[in-house]
Amino acid sequence: MIPSFYESDRALSEYLLFHYGSPEQILPWPFGPSDALDFPVRCVSECLDTKRLPSSSRALDVGCAVGRSTFELTRFCEHVIGIDSSRRFVESADCLQRDGVLAFRYLEAGAWTKAAVASVPREIDRRRVKFEIGDAQNLRADLGEFDVVLMANLIDRLQDPAACLSCLVRLTRPGGQLIITSPYTWLTEYTPREKWLGGCEEEGVAVTTLAALQNILAPNFSLTFRKDLPFLIREHARKFQWSVAEATRWSRV
Ligand SMILES: C[S@@+](CC[C@H](N)C(=O)[O-])C[C@H]1O[C@@H](n2cnc3c(N)ncnc32)[C@H](O)[C@@H]1O
Repeated sequence: MIPSFYESDRALSEYLLFHYGSPEQILPWPFGPSDALDFPVRCVSECLDTKRLPSSSRALDVGCAVGRSTFELTRFCEHVIGIDSSRRFVESADCLQRDGVLAFRYLEAGAWTKAAVASVPREIDRRRVKFEIGDAQNLRADLGEFDVVLMANLIDRLQDPAACLSCLVRLTRPGGQLIITSPYTWLTEYTPREKWLGGCEEEGVAVTTLAALQNILAPNFSLTFRKDLPFLIREHARKFQWSVAEATRWSRV
């Protein structure tokens, strides 16, 4: 079996920088797309409907990686669980939960790396966060119900995204919010072609992923918000992935 990219040194370093790096560390170019910074923070601050949260709310961040959005959710929700299938990501998120800081190195060029420290903002109450290793397609049955479920940039990394989305019905309380972001980068190395959600043409007509999501979620969720959210992942000082996720918020009927 090919080891997952998300267990590699490179992925861990890139995601710690993506989630916790300063603007200067991530993008050392004044002419770069600075509006694409802080994506894991903006997934929460720009997509959550804070007015519709009950007083003691629960949130779930599925595919949480190294946990920045999970921590950000505690600004609005009482208890937050972050779940990811990568053991190394969850171990790092656990360290950040316990210590508030984690030293790491990020790539400048070739084999030249720089030291950095990831830190959770001081005002965040880390005791209200819990991380665990888990498979989004086979979540444990006793997770309970949530007022907020966030799936940031996960659906196009799953073997069977439709099956995963169908399971979210039981996890989202009536009136609860499901937030999905994705650049819809469908690749057969993650998702067999027949399981892609949209991103194709049928009889000459384009089928968007948004339309496919609506088909799957429609009986149980209604679309309440849509926004384009750019994000930037630094590979090294002179190479970046600039992507535009589509963020949608769905209200559980
Ligand atoms: C593209 S990253 C996005 C991470 C994070 N949500 C963000 O926006 O930065 C995809 C994440 O999903 C995780 N992942 C992939 N397949 C998964 C699965 N079946 N169950 C849970 N997590 C999974 C990966 O380990 C990785 O952390």
